[in-house]
Amino acid sequence: MITVIANLKGGSGKSTVTFNLGLWLQMKGQPVVAYDLDPQQTLSDVAEVRREEGYAPPLQVNQPRESLQDDMKYHPVQTQVLVDVGASNMQAMKIALTIADRIVIPVPPSQPDVWATQRFLNIVNNLEINNRPEMRVFVNRADTHRAVRESDETEDVLRQLQGVELINQRLHQRTVYRRSLSEGLSIFELSRRSKAADEFNRLAAILYPEL
Ligand SMILES: Nc1ncnc2c1ncn2[C@@H]1O[C@H](COP(=O)(O)OP(=O)(O)OP(=O)(O)O)[C@@H](O)[C@H]1O
Ligand SMILES: [Mg+2]
Repeated sequence: MITVIANLKGGSGKSTVTFNLGLWLQMKGQPVVAYDLDPQQTLSDVAEVRREEGYAPPLQVNQPRESLQDDMKYHPVQTQVLVDVGASNMQAMKIALTIADRIVIPVPPSQPDVWATQRFLNIVNNLEINNRPEMRVFVNRADTHRAVRESDETEDVLRQLQGVELINQRLHQRTVYRRSLSEGLSIFELSRRSKAADEFNRLAAILYPEL
């Protein structure tokens, strides 16, 4: 299955989610290959940190040899392919969206992020695609204070968007997600019993109910 983690705006958590999802899938015994199509190369860098530190298993992060589409021929169907994209390479992003079985869209709870998500969905809807990918959105970087309503308001808007399904599992703004990228460890390796690990496990289990 090809899952593209995407949104237009920077900093929504695409690379964080891709990295942790890749390690979660491997923990579940799945063969995983990730593609980093963002010129910033965050995912490649964090995978390199993980390799240098000797943490096992490594996360295999590729660049397309020729085209992303052609590369898919080399992976058996049971391989879980994850693709991290960035808006600074729109052409690469559009190719990834065209071949995706599924697009997973992290959205921070802010008005600019909601606008960017709506623009992003317009881009997907205007692509010429034979088989429309499934699209799932969820709130990332939700505030941990109950009194702050932005996450509820963001979910209310996301729930009403056409052609995309809201996942009722937020990831909150937590330092362990930042540490995850800087140390090359998943949040469940960093702190197995944390709220972050719990919420991430639940999100991943919703995305891959068969595992
Ligand atoms: N839930 C979270 N809690 C705390 N920090 C987070 C969370 N999600 C992401 N971050 C942090 O926010 C920053 C941006 O995240 P990340 O690099 O994953 O976003 P991105 O969408 O890939 O950004 P870009 O578009 O620049 O590639 C990173 O420092 C990351 O560790
Ligand atoms: Mg990124």
